Amino acid sequence: MNTNTHAEPDRSLLAHRVLGAKPSATKEMTRLANELKREGRDVIALSQGEPDFPTPAHIREAAKAAIDRNESRYTEVAGTLALREAVARKFERDNGLSYHPDQIQVGCGAKQLLYNALQATINEGDEVVIPTPAWVSYPEMVLLAGGKPVIVRCGAASGFKLTPGQLDAAITPRTKWLMLNSPSNPSGAVYTRDELLALADVLLRHPHVWVMADDIYEKIRYDEAPFATPAAVAPALAERTLTVNGVSKAYAMTGWRVGFAGGPLALIKAMNLVQSQSTSHTSSISQAASVAALDGPMDFLGDFVESFRRRRDGVVGALRNIEGLTCDTPPGAFYAFPGCQGLLGRRDQGGTLIASDVDLAMYLLRSAGVAVVPGTSFELPGHFRISYAASDEELRVALARIAAACAALR
Ligand SMILES: Cc1ncc(COP(=O)(O)O)c(C=O)c1O
Repeated sequence: MNTNTHAEPDRSLLAHRVLGAKPSATKEMTRLANELKREGRDVIALSQGEPDFPTPAHIREAAKAAIDRNESRYTEVAGTLALREAVARKFERDNGLSYHPDQIQVGCGAKQLLYNALQATINEGDEVVIPTPAWVSYPEMVLLAGGKPVIVRCGAASGFKLTPGQLDAAITPRTKWLMLNSPSNPSGAVYTRDELLALADVLLRHPHVWVMADDIYEKIRYDEAPFATPAAVAPALAERTLTVNGVSKAYAMTGWRVGFAGGPLALIKAMNLVQSQSTSHTSSISQAASVAALDGPMDFLGDFVESFRRRRDGVVGALRNIEGLTCDTPPGAFYAFPGCQGLLGRRDQGGTLIASDVDLAMYLLRSAGVAVVPGTSFELPGHFRISYAASDEELRVALARIAAACAALR
């Protein structure tokens, strides 16, 4: 028996659907970093996207109370009514969206909501428009559902955002979904209300296209402008929009695995069917904690966002000082996404060519001991992603190492 857990799976074993999909590049980069750490190397991993703050105390207390009340049974597939009501209040309060609790599904992280929706609706060969750079999991989830990811590259010139012209050109009779993520992982781009309205104009001309709005970074924004989400900006789209969000990023609860989505009843029912035959639901204790999160005080968030803002400004400032890199200031999420075209074609001290962002990321890992994720993984080569959800000291050391490693390229 092969006990090497990192070995490639035996391809003859795999279903065709699975053959096309890749493991998560961000998790892979983190794994490589951990491997080097185990070998005794001093490695700083800026590859994983999770807040480094503790979950706020009142949320932890709510979980302990749920354990003590013995809330240890199966819950409803869609999530407890208490949590779905809290989610409905959140959507109303923060986004001006009215969903009946039956129009809400709770799952194991926002990730499962996206997955459920694709599994519930994609037929073989259906197309899903994915503006990139995009979260590594989008194309893979589409492939696992038997669909065809239609990648639309959106570079720095458009603020890494999809333009109405690009959207119009990407839509075909087979298009099922547009996946939109704002603030974006990995670029930190945030769509304004006007930009969403312009995209909505195109979508209103194509009534067969549904919208998956991934708002998981809603609370991690640095501008004053109010948050805009498609179903609220263009109510005519609400009947074909799934609004996805969760507690992972805003409440530092990545490991609790709670996400939620609101959408048309028929879609949510179909998603419940998928979930009922897979995970059933997320943990009852995590659900109780999430009620406390959504209904509780948000005063801690100001500190979270201020810490992230300070780190963002430090990281972006340091990146801009590195010859060969370019970096705009991202208005949301906790990632910087510098362009590295200026460094490609150079050679490291051993004479090895750095031909791509993937080569550069491997070089930074091996020579500088800093793990970043290449833009190729997000379907936008020529860039790399730094997660600044790390301590100020780690970021300071990591950026100094990156600067020295880049300066050593010839
Ligand atoms: C864009 C995006 N959507 C969804 C998720 C998944 O979040 P969750 O932890 O709620 O599954 C992530 C996590 O990194 C993300 O970056």
